[in-house]
Amino acid sequence: MRLNAMSIRLLTLSGVLLFLTACGDSQREANLLVGQEIVKQNCKVCHAQGINGAPIIGNSKMWSSRIGKGRDALVSNAITGNGLMPPKGGKSALTDAEIDLAVGYMLSQINSQ
Ligand code: HEC
Repeated sequence: MRLNAMSIRLLTLSGVLLFLTACGDSQREANLLVGQEIVKQNCKVCHAQGINGAPIIGNSKMWSSRIGKGRDALVSNAITGNGLMPPKGGKSALTDAEIDLAVGYMLSQINSQ
């Protein structure tokens, strides 16, 4: 059920993405929108409040020690798991590309501060 609801939301977002592209908005913005939705549904449960030390979204202090690893390493750790971070946040149905979009959104929230 959950997965189906998510698929429907992602399909809706694909529509939004096409709309944004048609309006001339950047692919980056569209990716962030999809990433935000993936995070909301799969990652916020830990990353909103810092459960088990999960770096809180938008908290640049908590991310500062991690950013140095580089985006690729962070994405790869989110996929395979790292310490108390379970592989794909425990949502094995998420694709690697979806994790990439989710991490992209998380990182965008630090840079915008
Ligand atoms: C069950 C709780 C939980 C969920 C759900 C979760 N995370 Fe995490 N995450 C953690 C914890 C805890 C850490 C810190 C791990 C450590 O360094 O010990 C972490 C760390 C990370 C890091 C930093 C990795 C690094 O190398 O420093 C990234 C990126 C990340 N999570 C992305 C995600 C994404 C994307 C999702 C959703 C698909 C997600 N997480 C869902 C608990 C969670």
